[in-house]
Amino acid sequence: MIIAIDGPAGSGKSTVAKILANRLGFKYLDTGAMYRALTWKAMQRRVDLRDETALCQLTDQIAIEFRSAGKSLSVFVDGENVTEEIRLPSVTNNVHYISDTPGVRQRMVKLQRTLASEGNTIAEGRDMGTVVFPHAEKKFFLDAEIEERARRRHGEFKPSDKRISYADVIKDIETRDRRDTTRNHSPLVRSSDAICINTTKMAIEEVVNLIIKQIGYAGKNESV
Ligand code: DC
Repeated sequence: MIIAIDGPAGSGKSTVAKILANRLGFKYLDTGAMYRALTWKAMQRRVDLRDETALCQLTDQIAIEFRSAGKSLSVFVDGENVTEEIRLPSVTNNVHYISDTPGVRQRMVKLQRTLASEGNTIAEGRDMGTVVFPHAEKKFFLDAEIEERARRRHGEFKPSDKRISYADVIKDIETRDRRDTTRNHSPLVRSSDAICINTTKMAIEEVVNLIIKQIGYAGKNESV
């Protein structure tokens, strides 16, 4: 079974997807982390982020893996744990070069399908329901008002990052929204058959429970 969850930055989809995967005993496929991992590697190797041929070659050469231990999921590139590095602002600011490169997307889609073929999967990203898993059993599109998304992002910051103001976070999210929705290749759009959930006024648990109700499956030993 594949459950597709898409939505803009800060809509709550990563948190919800992680909890759902744990609760249902599904695999969690964080496709944003895959684009981030490739961006990190390209920056390390000083690959020109506008050079599609070089980026495609790099995608073919490297191994991106997820390893889980209990509730935590780590991302590895060529055996190196990059879970923290891929969240650095430098990666966040450059990932759009990678995610708007068609040859890279083609390869990522293939890899995402292979990873999901290994078992029941919660697939989270921007194009899960539209492009990667158009036949997913259930599709969800999570959204929230931009002020709330920025509040959540700002609240997640470590004390060392607190000097970044709330107004800056709003601006940053606006930029990311624009890039995600106007991208030439697989832009963020709601699949017409996705269930849309506005999470602005909802607690995470409420969103998780609503999704479980819609799926009609609460894990091996629980009833809905
Ligand atoms: O969800 P995130 O912020 O970790 O995603 C990182 C970037 O990757 C984001 O700019 C959008 C892009 N992305 C994408 O283009 N397609 C996906 N399926 C997932 C993420």
